Amino acid sequence: MKANTAALILAAGQGKRMKSRLPKVLHQCADRPLVAHVVGLALTRQCKPVVVVVDAQGGKRVREVLTATFPDAPLVFAVQPEAKGTGDAVRVGLKAIAKHTGRLLVLYGDVPLLTPATIGRLDRALSGATLSFVTAHVSDPTGYGRILRHGKRAIAVVEHKDATKAQRAIREINAGVYLCGARSMRTMIGRLGNDNAKGEVYLTDIVAMAAKKKGAVAVEVDNDSEVRGVNTRAELALAEATLRGRLIAHHQARGVTFQDPGNTFIGSDVKIDADTFIGVGVQMSGRVKIGRGARIEGPSVIKDSTIAPGAIVHPFSHVEDASIGRGASVGPFGRLRPGAVLDEGARIGNFVEMKKSRLGKGSKANHLAYLGDAEIGAGANIGAGTITCNYDGGPIKHKTRIGDGAFVGSSSTLVAPINIGAGAYVAAGSTVTKDVPDDALAFGRSRQVNRDGYAKTLRERRGKQAKR
Ligand code: UD1
Ligand code: CA
Repeated sequence: MKANTAALILAAGQGKRMKSRLPKVLHQCADRPLVAHVVGLALTRQCKPVVVVVDAQGGKRVREVLTATFPDAPLVFAVQPEAKGTGDAVRVGLKAIAKHTGRLLVLYGDVPLLTPATIGRLDRALSGATLSFVTAHVSDPTGYGRILRHGKRAIAVVEHKDATKAQRAIREINAGVYLCGARSMRTMIGRLGNDNAKGEVYLTDIVAMAAKKKGAVAVEVDNDSEVRGVNTRAELALAEATLRGRLIAHHQARGVTFQDPGNTFIGSDVKIDADTFIGVGVQMSGRVKIGRGARIEGPSVIKDSTIAPGAIVHPFSHVEDASIGRGASVGPFGRLRPGAVLDEGARIGNFVEMKKSRLGKGSKANHLAYLGDAEIGAGANIGAGTITCNYDGGPIKHKTRIGDGAFVGSSSTLVAPINIGAGAYVAAGSTVTKDVPDDALAFGRSRQVNRDGYAKTLRERRGKQAKR
C-alpha cells in the first residue's frame, strides 16, 4: 500500500435486517466481530490512521470491542449522529482527519471477506485516476448497487432501489470498497445530495463524479464470495462458512489434518503447528495454540488455551484458559477450567474437573475428581473420587498442596487449607483435615468392625419377618 493512506470504515447503524439488539457490525464471524475483520484488513495494509465511523447508540460498544481487539492500533472513532447514508458517514469520518492529505481507503464494516490482495490491486489500479473501486459479477445481485458501464468504462453505480428493471438485470455489483485522494474525496462528498429512493446520502454517487473527472477504475474480483456484504443472519452464516473454509485451508497447507473440516469450528486467533490432528466436532475459539503432533479428538471445546506438542485431548472435553503440557492427556470427559495447568506427561481422566490448579509432571488424576486451587507436585496419584474442598462459603478459596510422589487414595476429601507431604499416603475414603507430613500415612476414617457370622443371623431374622 502506498504510504500515507488512511482508512475509513463505515460501522454506524443498527442493521435492521439482523433483527438484533446487538449492532450489526458486532455480530461474530469466525470468532471475531464483522468489523474487526475489516479493521484487521486495513491494518494489514498499513493504513494509518484507521477511522471507524460509529453511531451514538451502539457506537460505544463497537469502540470498546475494537480497542480491546487491537490495543496498539492507530484507531480513531467518529460518531455519526444520524444514519443519513454512507456518503454522510464518510463526511463525518473525514472531519476526524481534517489534516489528512494522502490517500483514503473506504471500507464498509459489514463486508468482512475482502482479501489484502484485492486491496493491493485497488492500489495499483488508482494510478492517475480519481477513484478506484471493487466490483464483482454475482449470481444474485439483489440489494446491491449495480455498475453502469459505457463501453468498458465504469460511469456510475445505481442502487437497487433506484434501478430500472433493465438496470436490475445487471449482475456486476459494487462491493463498497473505494480508494482515492483524500482531497478529491472531500470535494466529491461536498457535492452529494439525497435525491433518491431512500432519501439518503449515497456514497456511491461519487463513482459518477469521478468518472467525469480523471476516471473511476473498476477492479473486478473473480471470487464473488469476497465481496459479500452481511445484512441478514443468512448472509452471516454464509460469510462464516467462507471464512472458516479459508482458515481451514490455511492450516491444512501447514500440515494440520482435519477429520471433518465441515464440522470443525475454528476461530481467527487459533494457531496450530504441523502434524496435528483435529477431530470431528472440535470447536476452538479465542487465543488457542496447539503444538506439533498434538491430537484434539472431537467433540471437544477449546478456548483461550495452550496445548503443548504431543499432548492429547480425548473426546467430550471442555478446556478453557488452561495449559496442557508436553505429552499430557485429558479426558474423555475432562474439564479444565480457567487456570488449570498440566505439566509434562500429566493425565486427567474422565469426569475430572480442574480449576486454578497445577498437576505436576507425570501426575495422574484418572477418574471422577475435583481439583480446585490445588498445587500438585510431580509423580503424584490422585485416586478416583478425590475432592479438594476449597470453598467454605466465605470469600476466600483455600489451597491444597500435595507434594511430589504423594498417593491420595480413592474417595478422599481434602479439606483445604491443607498440605499433603511429599511421598505421603492418604488412605482411601479419608476426610483429611490436618496436614500430612512427608512420607506419612494418613487414615481419616473410622475403623471397620467385622462381626463373624452375623450376616446369617440377619438373613434368618428377615425371613421370619416376611412370613408374618
Ligand atoms: C451498500 C452500497 C451498495 C453496495 C453494498 C455492498 C451505498 C449507498 N450502497 O449498500 O452500492 O453494493 O453496500 O455491500 O453505499 N453505514 C453508516 N452510516 C450510514 C449508513 C450506513 O455507517 O448512515 C454503514 C453500515 O454500518 C454498513 C455500511 O455503511 O456497514 C453499508 O451500509 P448498508 O446500509 O449496509 O448499505 P447497503 O444497502 O448494503
Ligand atoms: Ca450492507
